[in-house]
Amino acid sequence: MTAKPELGVCYYPEHWRESQWEDDARRMAEMGLSWVRIGEFAWSRMESEPGHLTLDWLDRAIETLAKAGLKIVMCTPTATPPRWMVDKYPDMLAWDKDGHARKFGSRRHYDFSHIGYRKECERIARILGERYGQHSAIQAWQIDNEYGCHDTTLSYSPMAREAFQLWLSRKYQNIDALNRRWGTVFWSMEYNRFDQIDLPNLTVTEPHPAHVMDFRRFASDQVVAFNKAQIDVLRELTEADLLHNYMGRITDFDHFTVGADLDIATWDSYPLGFLEDRSDRDEAYRREYAREGDADFQAFHHDLYRAVGRGRWWVMEQQPGPVNWAPHNPAPKTGQIRQWTLDAFDHGAEVVSYFRWRQLPFGQEQNHAGLLRPDGEYSEAGHAVRALATELETYQRPKGGGAEIAIVFDYPSQWAWEVQPQDKNFDYFRLVLDIYTGLRKQGYTRIDILPSDTVDFGNRNAVFIPGLFAWSDSLKAAMQNFEGEIVIGPRTGSRTEDFQIPHRLAPNLDGIKVTAIDTLREDTPLTLSQGGTIQIWSEILETSWRVIETTEQGRPVIVRSGNLHYWAGWPDEAALELWLSEF
Ligand code: GAL
Repeated sequence: MTAKPELGVCYYPEHWRESQWEDDARRMAEMGLSWVRIGEFAWSRMESEPGHLTLDWLDRAIETLAKAGLKIVMCTPTATPPRWMVDKYPDMLAWDKDGHARKFGSRRHYDFSHIGYRKECERIARILGERYGQHSAIQAWQIDNEYGCHDTTLSYSPMAREAFQLWLSRKYQNIDALNRRWGTVFWSMEYNRFDQIDLPNLTVTEPHPAHVMDFRRFASDQVVAFNKAQIDVLRELTEADLLHNYMGRITDFDHFTVGADLDIATWDSYPLGFLEDRSDRDEAYRREYAREGDADFQAFHHDLYRAVGRGRWWVMEQQPGPVNWAPHNPAPKTGQIRQWTLDAFDHGAEVVSYFRWRQLPFGQEQNHAGLLRPDGEYSEAGHAVRALATELETYQRPKGGGAEIAIVFDYPSQWAWEVQPQDKNFDYFRLVLDIYTGLRKQGYTRIDILPSDTVDFGNRNAVFIPGLFAWSDSLKAAMQNFEGEIVIGPRTGSRTEDFQIPHRLAPNLDGIKVTAIDTLREDTPLTLSQGGTIQIWSEILETSWRVIETTEQGRPVIVRSGNLHYWAGWPDEAALELWLSEF
């Protein structure tokens, strides 16, 4: 981690007259910015027609920014294939669940499975890498932009179908193995050959869960492979750090696996947009925090991306004022830009970069604030960032060291419980976030997020493993060697990797069995003996473990054996506070 926190900005030289660039670059440096990210949507200007490269302007833009002393994040422009690309490969568009091809006219209009397009991405990455890979001002490279944003991980195209069949044949080798491990004899769904297997959309009623789960794994693997293809090209051509900018609450692909191929994880932090657009907080909460955002949601992502980046992470796009894309787009309260930025640095961010330099008078994001107004004057955020840059000169990071507490977060568990929710209100992400939020209330300001293949829990006080779909061998080993407290459940270990109920029943551990699940309507929570209720999810246990908490009717809800605790339900806020107070 660099000792000194740095600021940056996202800039689009192609949107502005060339005569303006020098002044822009000078003012960026003057504002106290060290980094500038360019190029992620500029393919149509880099290559105006197939094979016709038009990079002179980019050479000049890079020189102008470099001359002002700025460090550059160069991007591959693969999130925005130009129109000619779609003419060249009409079948490169992803298909939605209803079987319609998505059209050209915005961005992210490609199918991760389209090999022709993937090759074009490798080609443009090579062209850029050969031209700029050794440029001293270009100190990091971003691959693509926000994988999965706008619902783009899953595609139901013919390309995806073919790639899925290949993926299945590699995984299972022979069709009998697939039939057995999926359990296709149920409803006579047995297959004779891999090429009979369709994508799991447009079925009459719900498709087979093992089929959908494999489709979700496949789709995630396609993102990993797409990303890796460009990395392999760039690694040969540059020593600079490679990164990607992930999004908030996008769980359709395994960020840990994508992140393993990169040097830094970055994420795009839009606290007010997220609160309005993708939060499940109630109206009262949304009203109260409309100008601040959900601090727990933000902190969770900082901690998550610290884990995805194996300690190295940035905020690549920080909301600078009102955005244009949420149902309501309020302005942050005074002081909030500073607060968001410092929060990120306190969580260990190396760089916080704002989206965008100047508000743009044309295109889809005309109402999206920047550090400058469309007339070129400082916006409120511009003033705030200028002041912050000075303040940061003496900023001290909070003392480092490993956090004392951790939560396991597992993308496949999110997919599994979307495939088979059992209760419409069961949301894995929410369950994890509830526990995370509860821990923050107990005073933990930094909580580590661990992937489910963690082999060592270190010397923490406690590790939480809620809602984990299936155990991995490494996690079991980590548990065995750990001396702190381990909190498991609800729903943890309730399936095998093949999406079957384990023979010894959930949670698939010694001395405890979940014999039935009893999901709860919003108006039928179960009152607990020591306070609070359980909601949404409740399990019936048969166990030799010591009972710590029960429902008023005497049904065990928390049980314990040595350092293992099992939670047989989803606590409401009051219960959670009580349950967590002992950690
Ligand atoms: C991000 C995206 C940016 C811009 C921004 C607007 O999701 O990466 O390109 O669209 O949102 O808030």
